[in-house]
Amino acid sequence: MESRYPRGLDVGSLESPAFAVDRALLEKNARIMKRVADESGAAVLLALKGYSQFAAFDTLKPYLSGVCASSPHEARLGREEMGLEVHSYSPAYSEKALREIMGLSDHVIFNSPSQWERFSALREEFAGRVSCGLRFNPSHSETETAIYDPSAPLSRLGTVREELSPGFLRRVEGIHVHNLCEKDAGALVRTWRAVEKALGEELCGLRWINLGGGHHVTREDYRVEDLIALVREIRGKYGARVYLEPGEAWALNAGFLVATVLDLHRNRGDLAILDTSASCHMPDVLEMPYRPHILGSGEAGEKAHTYRLGGATCLAGDVIGDYSFDEPLKPGDRLVFADMAIYSMVKTTTFNGVGLPSQYLYDSRTEKLELVRRFGYEDFRGRLS
Ligand SMILES: Cc1ncc(COP(=O)(O)O)c(C=O)c1O
Repeated sequence: MESRYPRGLDVGSLESPAFAVDRALLEKNARIMKRVADESGAAVLLALKGYSQFAAFDTLKPYLSGVCASSPHEARLGREEMGLEVHSYSPAYSEKALREIMGLSDHVIFNSPSQWERFSALREEFAGRVSCGLRFNPSHSETETAIYDPSAPLSRLGTVREELSPGFLRRVEGIHVHNLCEKDAGALVRTWRAVEKALGEELCGLRWINLGGGHHVTREDYRVEDLIALVREIRGKYGARVYLEPGEAWALNAGFLVATVLDLHRNRGDLAILDTSASCHMPDVLEMPYRPHILGSGEAGEKAHTYRLGGATCLAGDVIGDYSFDEPLKPGDRLVFADMAIYSMVKTTTFNGVGLPSQYLYDSRTEKLELVRRFGYEDFRGRLS
């Protein structure tokens, strides 16, 4: 089995299961994001919902303008651990949550005119300290998977053109448009054209325009020049400050999940049970769904030995996928899942009492390895009563 990846890291020496994030790979992404900021004039934020391993914030901090948050907890994490701008948005706020968010944020984005009106007194109280805006729903779908499409019919995310009363946008300082998931710059250009078509002259006079996340900027084939050109065009035409708030792109392909084969088993085919779990440690595998890549593996049937890999929970569907390997698996073998920094650590659960993976930060430039966090019974117990 391949067991030396990322470069210089002996995965056999790590605790299992464990997330290992390479600071060198994070910084490689961050440099691309900084180029976008520098050449386009956009302020680029990190969406904490996608990646918020704050032990690595010192690596990212020199390259970003701030964070975007979805709750008081994320806003506080951003304020305390990153210490830069905080931009908050939630589909709806309770008064208690909004008061907390207002005290922690530079920008607060409301989802609907009714929330905007309901909290007018609170907005007044924070006037001059917090810049408030509205999320606009362009009703223009670019994302095929319905659960990731904010423009899907009956979507609750943002206000559609028909629900905006005349002149409403003159009362907000900015608009927020998040419409994409893992998309290229072309999808953003088409989304922006839809926004311009819907809002026309109403875009003039806004202080800021936030183009949300879902920009796969650090993917190899992403056309960074097209993103830069669009941001420059928007800034030139409307004189507004432009914000981008990707999550994924910051930590794309920068993290790994190391797991161990616990048992081999058969039921019409070969099965391997691992000490990790789709349900507990990589729920997007089931939610999206998708098949994560395992280093050194092939598709089912491509290499000599094929297995269905599953987790050690009671859920029949806790299946990661079918994979093949050159050599037969045996208990104790280490498997390394790629691209596991994003939407993994932030989504883990302790269903069945399954332990949370330890966290390592690694630097493939210096081969320095830090065990950042080990989780135990208290982390499981603490969520239950
Ligand atoms: C409002 C908002 N901003 C930013 C993001 C980050 O998106 P991504 O991680 O795909 O770049 C999301 C993701 O759902 C979002 O809903």
